[in-house]
Amino acid sequence: MDILGRTTPIAIGERTKSKDKKMNSIILQQPGKIVFGINALEKLPEDELILSSEKILFLIAEPVLNLLQPIINQLISIGKIVEVITYNFPGEPTFKQFDTLLAQSVEFNPDCVIGVGGGSVLDSAKLLAAMTGNEQQYADVVGVGLLKKRMKKLICISTTSGTGSEVSPIAILLNEKTEAKSGIVSPALLADAAYIDPILTVGLPPKITAETTMDALCHCIEAYTNKFAHPAVDTYALKGIELISKNLLNAFNDGNDLEARAALALGSMYGGLCLGPVNTHGVHCLSYGLGGKFHISHGLANAILLPAVLRFNLEASPERHAEVAVAMGIANEKDNKATALKGIEKIEELSFACGIPSSLTALGIGENDLPALADIAMNVTRLLKNNPRELTREDAIGIYKTIV
Ligand SMILES: [Fe+2]
Repeated sequence: MDILGRTTPIAIGERTKSKDKKMNSIILQQPGKIVFGINALEKLPEDELILSSEKILFLIAEPVLNLLQPIINQLISIGKIVEVITYNFPGEPTFKQFDTLLAQSVEFNPDCVIGVGGGSVLDSAKLLAAMTGNEQQYADVVGVGLLKKRMKKLICISTTSGTGSEVSPIAILLNEKTEAKSGIVSPALLADAAYIDPILTVGLPPKITAETTMDALCHCIEAYTNKFAHPAVDTYALKGIELISKNLLNAFNDGNDLEARAALALGSMYGGLCLGPVNTHGVHCLSYGLGGKFHISHGLANAILLPAVLRFNLEASPERHAEVAVAMGIANEKDNKATALKGIEKIEELSFACGIPSSLTALGIGENDLPALADIAMNVTRLLKNNPRELTREDAIGIYKTIV
């Protein structure tokens, strides 16, 4: 009798193969706790992670420092030793910039690290919590699964509805020498607690609202049309696509529209929850060079590439791409391809309405730059392998050419 009580055991090889590929096993790992909703942040001072800590390090995006000051004062008044580092680097931290942050964190030696900001701030906070006092060097943990453990407690508080970093096991550093983004992926980077309070996004300017939200939309669409898409994640992805496409323009046109802000925060959280188990594909892969070499913001780079990559991928899975369109509110056309194309047009309309340019030329990138961009993309194998259609260097150049 085998461990499942069967008298005729199934051979291991058979047992691990599901007839329905989509129901293969998947690992869903999320933060220890997600505190979501309007005024969620009010619960922070009574969080057990804070109450059980003596020394607390805040890494805060400079524009939201004032918003956090009352909470910081409250923690000091109950005897906590608090150090605040303001994050004011443009975009992802370079290795050198992260060295500076890590030196400060090592000197303070906190019990708990709290990141407050967008993706770059949260990624940095996650790495500070992991690397402060860690015998591993951070240069040795770049890649998938190489970071073995996190040393400090970690709370991530998002102030944009975009990267989903607060709920993902991923952090990105920029290698200033190679101009390549370096991904560190490990369950150790999942926060003990993520706080998502839409009120923190109310002050975001329209441009940043649009770019960060388009990033979240990419997370959802790339997960749903992913080669490794999975029913356990599809539900998050489709709901995220629906929430974001319905509410982006409202939040863009009126930053104080709290209902729209809350919907985008939820959609972005769903997008973030897609990142660990399934992750992104060709859009994020092709955007790496735009960020690393041309310092174009992550969300903007993805937004420009999204329609072009979806048009390329469409033939690999017309049904999945049509379902994305339907989640965006598109009615079914005569066939899946036609429905999917309407969805791609709707993405372009959304981007246009938010002032996102449709071409790389508008960002100062020309045809001569495309081979180098394609070379960078080909090195992002951890995302390239997820694309539903094989994507070669020539294909990458071809996709870039459609938007030059
Ligand atoms: Fe992203």
